[in-house]
Amino acid sequence: MQTHYRDDMCRIRPRSAAAGHDSPNGDARILSTDSLAHALDSRPDLWDALVKASPALTATNKPQKTEIPPTDQQLDILRQIADLPYFARSRFGFYCDDRQFEIFRRCSRRTLLNCSRQSGKSTVTAVKAVHCAYWRNAVTILVTAPTKQQTREFLRKVRTFATLLGTARRGDKYCVEFANGSRIVGVAADEDSIRGFSAVALVIVDEAARVCDEVYFALLPMLAVSNGSLWLLSTPKGKRGFFHAEWASPENEGWVKIRIKGMDCPRISEAFLAAQKKRLGERRYAQEYECLFVDLDRGAFDPEVVRKAFRGDIKPLEI
Ligand SMILES: Nc1ncnc2c1ncn2[C@@H]1O[C@H](COP(=O)(O)OP(=O)(O)O)[C@@H](O)[C@H]1O
Ligand SMILES: [Mg+2]
Repeated sequence: MQTHYRDDMCRIRPRSAAAGHDSPNGDARILSTDSLAHALDSRPDLWDALVKASPALTATNKPQKTEIPPTDQQLDILRQIADLPYFARSRFGFYCDDRQFEIFRRCSRRTLLNCSRQSGKSTVTAVKAVHCAYWRNAVTILVTAPTKQQTREFLRKVRTFATLLGTARRGDKYCVEFANGSRIVGVAADEDSIRGFSAVALVIVDEAARVCDEVYFALLPMLAVSNGSLWLLSTPKGKRGFFHAEWASPENEGWVKIRIKGMDCPRISEAFLAAQKKRLGERRYAQEYECLFVDLDRGAFDPEVVRKAFRGDIKPLEI
């Protein structure tokens, strides 16, 4: 049976591991046994949420700070639930790099990842999806991307992780089902395929800058009842569409926004970036590897100037 994630990720040791993130004494960013017990003591609601999320926990095996110490197994389960990098490392042999750590540390119900090509955004989001499906019962997670092939590619990452958990039951190219009744479903990014899903726990839009606005607006209502989460991940594609609009939205609109440039990714070499800059030119390079919203298809006028020339308060002339 396969016991390790077999993508190239297992063989590459990211800089973070060398920097001591995986020291035998544990990671400073990972909850310690004691702080976990303390957290549970002061937050009974957190424990209730964990019990609800995990069939492996019951009201009687809650870790105690002072009385019977929690067993290693109980703590391990709790850590896996509360700590995504730990879950990824212990179950898949997947080591997050520094910025992927940041994604997991900061992510919220509305998460926007504006990241360079090949920086690992789809992979960490696949970990997030599998974590959600595995630790919560009977939830639906929806994944969409501009093309069927991209959706399938995302599902392929999901399936690899689910297989390592030994829990994937069946499904097809577009659906991974878990033994607890949860499922991760891939749908084509067109309005008709999207409609019809409801009470979705997590919606993921991969390559979001290339998905059209109509699809995005059709996706939003399915989060209303479930109070579900929404993750948008992409490399930019000009100052247009919902991905740009959400990225440019005011800070108080609830998005956690994370930008990861090519040079921030330990798996992309400086030499590769320099060669890409030469080949792509400044503007395209800025889009693909520096995650800037630039308009590449420039006509006679700068699109930003044209956009600013329109005003909503002027009535058209009636002739
Ligand atoms: N933490 C990591 N350690 C090792 N390899 C990784 C890591 N994160 C991603 N990768 C690898 O990097 C490559 C690009 O990842 P991917 O998620 O497809 O990038 P993106 O979606 O940003 O283009 C894949 O081969 C993936 O397995
Ligand atoms: Mg991707």
